[in-house]
Amino acid sequence: MTVPACEAAALRIENESLRLELARVTAAGRDAHLRQLSFLATIAHELRNPLMPLRLAALMLDGARNDDVAYAKHQATIKGQVAQITRLIGDLLEGSSIGAGKFRLERKLLDVGTVLDRVAETCQLSMDTRHQHFSVKRDPGALMVLGDAARLTQVFGNLLENSSRYTPEGGEISLSAATVGDCVVIAVKDNGIGITAQALPHVFDIFVRDARATMVNEIGLGVGLSVVRELVKAHEGGVVAHCAGEDAGSEFIVRLPIALANTRLSAVVQ
Ligand SMILES: Nc1ncnc2c1ncn2[C@@H]1O[C@H](COP(=O)(O)OP(=O)(O)OP(=O)(O)O)[C@@H](O)[C@H]1O
Ligand SMILES: [Mg+2]
Repeated sequence: MTVPACEAAALRIENESLRLELARVTAAGRDAHLRQLSFLATIAHELRNPLMPLRLAALMLDGARNDDVAYAKHQATIKGQVAQITRLIGDLLEGSSIGAGKFRLERKLLDVGTVLDRVAETCQLSMDTRHQHFSVKRDPGALMVLGDAARLTQVFGNLLENSSRYTPEGGEISLSAATVGDCVVIAVKDNGIGITAQALPHVFDIFVRDARATMVNEIGLGVGLSVVRELVKAHEGGVVAHCAGEDAGSEFIVRLPIALANTRLSAVVQ
């Protein structure tokens, strides 16, 4: 090979490697942009979640002026939801990134039954407005897990919100919790529109919405279940979805490891 031919070949190689590097950097930039979008969508979703019960409780507070019990209940809902928003904004400011799969968990030994009671109470309000029948059944006694109460509230709030959203007025929704082996098993079941076989394996992926769901409810980002999956995973648990077919209802089952009495109390940062 002559010297200029050698130089030309070297230039070609250099060009090719520059081209590959440019493609790599462009792809990395695109990925980072998508991650940012997904993070923003997640945060928007999570900030929006408490707004509905907050708005309903604020509306009902007016009519409950002469009913101390109802007044206190609505006040507690408002306080609870504001606390949830405060916590989320705190996470945002701390730069913790749900989209990147990073959570700041504050896990401690807790009775998940009490978390469920609180979530059920909050969701009852919006289910009542849709005339849905909501039942809660759980094992008597404590269901101890090493959990972050605010994050578990998000998990079951998202699942129950979906059940209500994708179940027609007058439908039935149930929440049950029991100890099975070394797990606490929590099931959220409805008799709503169900999930198509094509969508079922993907519903926990971010931005996935079943085509039928978009017809029933235009609002929705397809983010809630991805948050559920990440949070449950961060609790060393698992979540699965079942559906027997269209209009056959849906069931979401969450498994969380039972915390033994001698489990070390700890603040876990992930
Ligand atoms: N209980 C349910 N019944 C029927 N379909 C459901 C149910 N829960 C989830 N889905 C399906 O899974 C999809 C993803 O749910 P996900 O909660 O992630 O998003 P979304 O409800 O569409 O929007 P958002 O981000 O506001 O929660 C829904 O769009 C719907 O197709
Ligand atoms: Mg949802």
